[in-house]
Amino acid sequence: MEHYFTNNENLKSEIRDINFSFGAYNFLFKSDNGVFSKDKIDYASLFLVKTFLNNKKCVNSILDIGCGYGFIGITLSKILQVHVDMSDINKRAVHLTEMNIKENQVDAKVMESNIYENITAKYDLIITNPPIRAGKEVLKEFIYGGLAKLNKDGEIWFVLSKDKGAKSMKKELDNVGTCTLVAKSKGFWVISLKNS
Ligand SMILES: C[S@@+](CC[C@H](N)C(=O)[O-])C[C@H]1O[C@@H](n2cnc3c(N)ncnc32)[C@H](O)[C@@H]1O
Repeated sequence: MEHYFTNNENLKSEIRDINFSFGAYNFLFKSDNGVFSKDKIDYASLFLVKTFLNNKKCVNSILDIGCGYGFIGITLSKILQVHVDMSDINKRAVHLTEMNIKENQVDAKVMESNIYENITAKYDLIITNPPIRAGKEVLKEFIYGGLAKLNKDGEIWFVLSKDKGAKSMKKELDNVGTCTLVAKSKGFWVISLKNS
């Protein structure tokens, strides 16, 4: 079975536009077959962005890991006027994000990376809607691996479905760092984590 994180070069390309407005900001995202939430902005990703902006901390560097076509990172870069790095294992997602950085004229960079493999910098914020379908080990690497990539006082923010790991992950992370359940909506939890 094909997943949105599988690199399938034979999958027919059918690029489409997703128009998205956030307050006074208008975005255009190019999307395609073979990437996550190809036809519309994902509800959980939007909830994560809104929740972060409502609880805004001052951040000078951001990593959006598992960026897909770049919705989270590009939106935050535009609104916060901050440089954002983005990464994904899916080549098509990386290519779309390159196009979307140009299209939306934001200060951002995207790289191909399996989890944190090619990530050398450290960040004030790592933000992600992680790929739960990739399995628990990948999910854990997204979160635990991020702790070593944070600047002092940096935080990881992520969204998970309560029934697909959020509850158990929150419990586990309470022993790892300072973990906060920031907001809940429609069964999704936004959680923040920092080194204690
Ligand atoms: C739930 S989607 C979120 C996509 C995007 N951030 C959004 O909000 O629309 C998770 C993303 O993680 C990527 N991914 C899966 N496994 C990965 C891995 N091992 N390393 C990096 N990215 C991965 C997928 O390709 C997918 O784009």
